[in-house]
Amino acid sequence: MINIGIIGCGRITQYRHAPEYLANPSAKLLGFVDTKMSQADLMVEKFGGKNYENIDSMLDDSAIDAVSICVANPSHAEVSLAALKAGKHVLLEKPMATTLEDCLAIVQMAKSTGKTVMLGHNQRFAPAHIKAREMIARGVLGKPLGFRVTFGHEGPEVWTLNLDSWFIHRNRAGFGVLGDLGIHKIDLIHFLLDEPIVEVSAKLATLDKRYEDGRLIDLEDNAACLLTTKSGVMGTMHVSWTFNAGEDNSSRIYGTKGVLRLYDDPIYSLILETKDGKVEKLKLEGLSSNEDQKAGRQSNSGVINAFVSSILKGTKPDIDAQEALKAMRVVFAAIESDESGRRMNIYQD
Ligand SMILES: NC(=O)c1ccc[n+]([C@@H]2O[C@H](COP(=O)([O-])OP(=O)(O)OC[C@H]3O[C@@H](n4cnc5c(N)ncnc54)[C@H](O)[C@@H]3O)[C@@H](O)[C@H]2O)c1
Repeated sequence: MINIGIIGCGRITQYRHAPEYLANPSAKLLGFVDTKMSQADLMVEKFGGKNYENIDSMLDDSAIDAVSICVANPSHAEVSLAALKAGKHVLLEKPMATTLEDCLAIVQMAKSTGKTVMLGHNQRFAPAHIKAREMIARGVLGKPLGFRVTFGHEGPEVWTLNLDSWFIHRNRAGFGVLGDLGIHKIDLIHFLLDEPIVEVSAKLATLDKRYEDGRLIDLEDNAACLLTTKSGVMGTMHVSWTFNAGEDNSSRIYGTKGVLRLYDDPIYSLILETKDGKVEKLKLEGLSSNEDQKAGRQSNSGVINAFVSSILKGTKPDIDAQEALKAMRVVFAAIESDESGRRMNIYQD
């Protein structure tokens, strides 16, 4: 049995972490902590366990084996470094941290403590993505040549049910849509093609998302990137907080023999079209969306089960700190590309 504490008691805790630990027979939720006590109270009421007074008191509790870190982005590094130092395994929400130095510090601390560190990159657990990775590795597309990935919705203030959410303030979020949604698709490309992105050109813009007083937000609400992987597969990524008519979370991978369309059709989550005219359509489980969350539909992301299983078996999670660093390097390089107007090469070790 793995004893769990959750740090940060907002939407992702309520919607994913707490219910998925509760449903896992090998995990026991010991308690919650949040800078807003009332938020932790709400979680205790709904999911059980106790309300810790502060993060230190949770980390000092020797009964706790592992923590989920679900706080706002700028606190990710400080809280995860403290948790690792206290000897806890860590499931950290994305994006890993807001500076490259902090990401490197987490990688280093994971190595020196030997504790499990996993990132909440849930796109890796979507059934159509798992199937697609296996099909690509089997050669159904021939040689992969290109991709087109998209992730957009109405914006994070709709997700957090708070029109003045921290997500849309630079000093409280660190990143705009690129770090919020782009990180998911960058990691997905790494997962599907099994190789890192090594080059990026990017344009970031604030097109239409506004504060309640009508001013444009001080972060990008749209980002478009041209990306190239180590073996030369090239493609585009568009991420947006202004897809106001609904969510688009689709991906296409093109190869010498055909194309794979993932979550790109309302009925079939995976469609393979080959140049000989054959079409294979699969109905696999959907990706969890903001619409699901609004409608109170619960889904199992697979993230929590994978984390618990890694700890129990002592195996390295697929999306550990080192793997997450690869995706974060692309985010930082994309920001630099936008600022400098240059195409950036990305160091990937
Ligand atoms: N994997 C995903 O698909 C996904 C989806 C949504 C959010 N997230 C990530 O999860 C994290 C939390 O997002 P959310 O949507 O739940 O936000 P939220 O605003 O709903 O909740 C954040 C909570 O953390 C608390 N908090 C902030 N700083 C804290 C600190 N230093 N110590 C203790 N508590 C603190 C806040 O009071 C709040 O209750 C973010 O990093 C976000 O990027 C991931």
